[in-house]
Amino acid sequence: MKLNKGVVLAGGLGTRLLPLTKITNKHLLPVYDRPMIYYPLQMLVEAGVTEILLVTGGNNAGDFLRLLENGEAFGCSLHYAYQRGEGGIAAALRLAREFATGEALAVVLGDNLFEHGIRATAEQFRAQARGARVLLKEVPDPQRFGVPALEGGRLVRIEEKPQRPASRYAITGCYFYDNSVFEKIDRCRPSARNELEITDVNNLYLEEGGLEASEVNGWWGDAGTFAGLRRLGNLIAEQQAARRAPAPAGA
Ligand code: G1P
Repeated sequence: MKLNKGVVLAGGLGTRLLPLTKITNKHLLPVYDRPMIYYPLQMLVEAGVTEILLVTGGNNAGDFLRLLENGEAFGCSLHYAYQRGEGGIAAALRLAREFATGEALAVVLGDNLFEHGIRATAEQFRAQARGARVLLKEVPDPQRFGVPALEGGRLVRIEEKPQRPASRYAITGCYFYDNSVFEKIDRCRPSARNELEITDVNNLYLEEGGLEASEVNGWWGDAGTFAGLRRLGNLIAEQQAARRAPAPAGA
């Protein structure tokens, strides 16, 4: 499949980061030396996804435009959509229907950071004829995330924030979808927390036998909590220091 369009989801209230998010959008907060939103944008561009829609909402949407302008400085062409209210990840993604014009999409939650980006996974998805692809990572606290049930290494079901996780893996906030994603979102109904869940969309792909999974290599995290924000700030600082450091003798 051809893949050069992507969506960064940067809405939400960021209540887990109050009071910081009282005056700005979560995705504009710093992760080490740059605004959080820079990371998913750069990661998409590095993966060859250069036509990008940013979906945001709330009171600070205009700040994204001031910061990112038309995307040229990042090597991409940036478009914007505004989400009214709180409808969940799948509801935010639905706003990308016209932008997609029937093409496949890479979708990233604006607070998700990956040590080695998603270039390799994007290539795996491009090699698919249809369907979707998610990224898995083993974590110490899977109950905070979408969790896959695996049988013989194959994905059989995904549960959103289960009290008793079926595996130690999290479904990370990066998804690749073919053009049937919008028809699937239309089939979803609001969950108990009154949101259209991305996990339900992924389960519809699974039922069709169209969901593939890759495992994240390197660290992954979401910066949506104070612990996550601090951890990722430290990891980015270390990554940058390592890049600046001279190669060890003998290397
Ligand atoms: C969302 C998704 C969840 C996923 C997580 C990744 O959760 O609903 O399936 O594992 O992102 O960061 P949220 O951060 O909205 O609680």
